[in-house]
Order: sequence, then structure tokens, then C-alpha cells
Amino acid sequence: MTQPAAAPGRARQNAIYSAGVFGHHPSVPADFAELERRAEKAMGPRGWAYIAGGAGEGATMRANRSAFDRWAIVPRVLRDVSRRDLSVDLFGTTLPAPILFSPVGAGELAHPDSDLHIGRAAADLGVPYIFSNQGCNPMEDVAAAMEAVTPGAPRWFQLYWSTDDALVDSLVRRAETMGAQAIVVTLDTTMLGWRPQDLNIGSLPFARAEGIAQYTSDPRFREIVAERIANPSADAGPKVEITRAAVSALFSMARHLPGSLLSNLRSPVPKQSVQTFLDIYSRPSLSWDDIAGLQKRTSLPVVLKGILHPDDARHAVDLGIDGIIVSNHGGRQVDGSISSLDALPDVVEAVDGRAKVLIDSGIYTGSDAFKALALGADAVCIGRPHMYGLAINGRDGARDAVANIIAELDLTLGLSGHTDIASLTPDVLRNMGCDHRVR
Ligand code: FNR
Ligand code: LAC
Repeated sequence: MTQPAAAPGRARQNAIYSAGVFGHHPSVPADFAELERRAEKAMGPRGWAYIAGGAGEGATMRANRSAFDRWAIVPRVLRDVSRRDLSVDLFGTTLPAPILFSPVGAGELAHPDSDLHIGRAAADLGVPYIFSNQGCNPMEDVAAAMEAVTPGAPRWFQLYWSTDDALVDSLVRRAETMGAQAIVVTLDTTMLGWRPQDLNIGSLPFARAEGIAQYTSDPRFREIVAERIANPSADAGPKVEITRAAVSALFSMARHLPGSLLSNLRSPVPKQSVQTFLDIYSRPSLSWDDIAGLQKRTSLPVVLKGILHPDDARHAVDLGIDGIIVSNHGGRQVDGSISSLDALPDVVEAVDGRAKVLIDSGIYTGSDAFKALALGADAVCIGRPHMYGLAINGRDGARDAVANIIAELDLTLGLSGHTDIASLTPDVLRNMGCDHRVR
């Protein structure tokens, strides 16, 4: 499968219906509710808790969805929509659709070698994959996997700002070298939110070395680990009680580090790598000065992810930031937060065309994407749907989950009387003021 056809909606429908004649059903459901149900069955309890879970009582996750129900599309007719163009330009690259894959960490809880498969899926579609700093495969390997599908397949890198500046520099250098077209700095996760689904089963993937491949493959990180091993006084570390779970965690750590399982089991490096990661992973003191400093340290466009307040958006564009992702991290950080869609119009107004505005959190269908674009987003990022597709059917599942959203976006565009993304403005919607979903 290559990039979406010019009219991806009808092409996808035709492919599915034609296969149906021979009794073949698509492996990935075409609606989000069934996609989620099938993904839950495909995942273990730890994976489901981590990927589907949210902060607190889940109010932000619900708000992310219900915000879309307060906007209604008002279709227009008789406008010749036979030729449609979904393409958009982002930082000098023309994308076939205004869609990106959100960065998602610890994806191996959904499928082994998650990032390689997601990278290939994004390359199949020709849309950017934002590699997570909490990825499960070193970024160089993911870039190579994408190159093997389509040379130059677009990719961005998402950075978590560690307490070690040299590590930040090293990650940014590596991202530049592996061909990233933008650096996305995630601002809303300087600490992990309160996540009852994970807390209730005492599960944090990173504590088992899941989702720390960008660190264990990094020369600066390895240097810090070596220093800490050479200087044990600086590393008291928790005392290990020998339980089955602890042994399983030690095996997991050893399996995840470069090198053979046997030598890793004998070595202090895996355990020290996890402890080092937990100690330095992110920086709650992060401030605007750090962001201004980063712009000086890279030639790539800098995109800030996790902005919800218009004043923060204004501050970012005043600093010369290239893009913003309006996001509440899929409701995983602050329970009771404003939804991304509700935050979008004020951010768009504050930015006033001076930077690209992207959005994620709760965009699960083509209709959702249409509404976000109409409210001023330049592109939308898809998170959980691609993870659910991945859990169900690996690379093809991740690709098809996003291809379905692109197909529905294309059909929604045409069926509401529009032929390109630039013609979408708030005028194509009506604010219903309340939750009007028909159940
Ligand atoms: C995320 N997200 C995320 N964001 C980020 O900047 N770096 C990361 O490593 C991760 N990791 C991560 C793991 C999992 C399992 C999820 C579900 C999400 C947030 C992600 O980029 C995006 O903001 C949300 O997924 C958007 O919400 P929806 O649309 O998936 O509900
Ligand atoms: C998360 C972090 C890794 O949401 O972004 O789990």
C-alpha cells in the first residue's frame, strides 16, 4: 500500500466492499467504538491500562470526545465535489492529508517492535510519524525502517526535556541526523499525571525498561549510567526484595538493553539504566528560557505540544516558535482539563497565522478531523486509534486505522460541499451549545 489516492474515501470503501464479495472482512473495524473493543481483547491488562487509561476519573478524556458533539457540520449541496484535495503544507513539506501520527510511548505493550511497525504504517500513508522520546526502538532503526518503505518518508521527533542538558543535546543531534523534519517538545508531562488504571496494578512500563530505547541507545545516557555504576555512593537505589514480579522485571530490563540476555542479567547496567531514566527523565522546572535556548541549538522547526491557554500560545509565537500542538495528552495528565477542541479557537486567534497550529486528543474519526480543521487547525494528530490498530493487526492495523480516518475525512469533505482543506472555516459548522449526540 502506498500513499492515499487522490480520492482516498471512495478508494478505501471500494477496496473494503470488493474484498467483502470474497468473504474478507477488514481486520481493523471502521468505527472507533469497535476498534477500541477489539484492541482491548488483543492487549494484556498492563497494556490496556497504560494505553486506554487516563488521568483521575477520566473527565478530560470524556470532555475530549463530547466537545466534538457540540459542533455540527452544516452540509452544502450541488457544488461539484468530484475532485477533492486533502493535501496541506507543513514546514516546507506537502502532505497528502492533514494528518500525523501522535508520539506514543511504550507501544510494545500493544505489539512487539511497535515503533518499527508504526513507522512503516506512516510511510505507507505518506504522513509524518512523530517518534516518541519514550519509544521502543532506537530512532535510527525506525528511520531506516521508514526509508525502506519510502525514501524520505516524513518523520518528526518528540523530546522530553531531561534534567541532563547534554542528553537533550544528544537526542536533538540524533534526531537531526536521522532526518527529523521538526522537534516537538512536550510541555504537559514534566511529571506523569495521576493515572489510576496504572496505579491500581502498580504498573509503569519504564520501570521494566519498556519505552526507554531512545535512552539506552544514546551515548550520553550510557555515559551517565557508567558514571553512576563507577560511583555507587551516588546511587543508593531501592533495596531489591526477591519476588516473582521482581525477577520478571529484572528479565524484562535485561531483555530490553542492547547486548545478550545472559550478559545483561549478570551486569549492573540494565537496572542502573532504569534507575537513571527514572531519576533524570523529565524536568518539572522547565521554563520559557529553556525553549528559547533550544531554538538556538537546532536548525529544525520547533513545535510545542501541550498548549491549551491562548497566553501560552501568544508567548510561544512571540519567541518565534514554528508550531503548536493543542493537546491535553489524551486526558492522561490533568483530570478536569479543558478539552483540546474547546481550547483550539482561542489558541488559533492568539497565534493569528504566525505559526502552524496542530491539535490532538480525542480525534478518532474523519468527522472529528473535519471539525478541528474547520475550527482553525492546520493538521490533526492521531493517537490511540493507531495504537489500537497496531494491537489488532501490527503495521497493517496501524495503517488501516489511520487510513480509515483519512477516508472518512475525504468523504465528509465532499459530502458537506467542500473540495479542499483551505476552504474549511468555522462557518461550515454550527455550535449547538450542548451535547446533542443521538444515542
Ligand atoms: C501518549 N502521548 C504521548 N505524548 C508525547 O508527547 N510523548 C509520549 O511519549 C506519549 N506517550 C503516550 C502513550 C500513550 C499510550 C498515549 C495514549 C498517549 C500523548 C499522545 O501524543 C497524544 O497527545 C494523545 O494520544 C492524544 O489523545 P488521543 O487522541 O489518543 O485520545
Ligand atoms: C505517557 C507519556 C510517556 O503519556 O507521555 O505515558
